[in-house]
Amino acid sequence: MTEIIQQSRHAHRLQGDDLTLRYDQRMISQGLSIVVPDGSFTVIVGPNACGKSTLLRALSRLLKPTHGSVILDGRSIHSLSGKDVARRLGLLPQSAIAPDGITVADLVARGRYPHQSFLQQWSSADEEAVASAMAATSVTELAGRQVDELSGGQRQRVWVSMVLAQETPILLLDEPTTFLDIAHQIELLDLLSDLNGQGRTIVAVLHDLNHACRYASHLVAMKDGAIVASGKPGDIVNAALVEIVFRLPCIVVPDPETKTPMIIPRSRRSNFGLCK
Ligand SMILES: Nc1ncnc2c1ncn2[C@@H]1O[C@H](COP(=O)(O)OP(=O)(O)OP(=O)(O)O)[C@@H](O)[C@H]1O
Ligand SMILES: [Mg+2]
Repeated sequence: MTEIIQQSRHAHRLQGDDLTLRYDQRMISQGLSIVVPDGSFTVIVGPNACGKSTLLRALSRLLKPTHGSVILDGRSIHSLSGKDVARRLGLLPQSAIAPDGITVADLVARGRYPHQSFLQQWSSADEEAVASAMAATSVTELAGRQVDELSGGQRQRVWVSMVLAQETPILLLDEPTTFLDIAHQIELLDLLSDLNGQGRTIVAVLHDLNHACRYASHLVAMKDGAIVASGKPGDIVNAALVEIVFRLPCIVVPDPETKTPMIIPRSRRSNFGLCK
């Protein structure tokens, strides 16, 4: 009976309940609750400094809420060991820093750390996970290069590769498309969408609202540390929401390719189109 009650209270693998998030005296969020629907491609959007990364840090156990709790698989995430969390949930932080001089292959291999133990050292399963993560992110040919000698976009794909090699059922990615050119952005989002289709739960922070609307099955819009709207992009995104969240006058039309909402910022030049 207790088990049933426990399951119905925590119907989703990952959620935050009534969170207060702060850095020393700086309050970022208060009374923040979020559910990450199992099997969803959840995308978090919101203006700079509204608390997106802070929320992701809390959801991945890096930041301890001063009130409320993050529940992972029915337990407070802080009652789980770091390795236990890392087997269930992988995080790509916004500004990851690689150890000096590390090669691409060695960095991606670090994604396998949670699967190793004193008894279970490097295995063929680890080798396969690393090779397939590198192939999926097109970094195989960079394997021997030093990470700190790569371009920003190459480096970003290596970090994504490391998180993929971790082979977790839940992936949290903070601005994974930063530094990527348009083709690599779409390639990465398609890859995440494929992984989502295979059953992985994805949570990504994105700044491109049109990408967010195309790829999210569940969109979360944040402002000033709070969630102001969440749901299917087609159900929640309109010009009023974009104006409230970003203070950006815009029109919203159906994306000609996907029919999802497409945001077109209004020009501040009233005679735009008449100028040469
Ligand atoms: N380590 C820290 N110590 C103190 N304040 C911090 C720290 N990290 C972030 N903040 C502050 O917390 C607030 C929220 O930051 P956060 O990084 O969560 O924003 P964000 O929504 O991810 O923004 P961006 O889109 O720019 O990445 C900001 O005011 C920021 O200055
Ligand atoms: Mg951020």
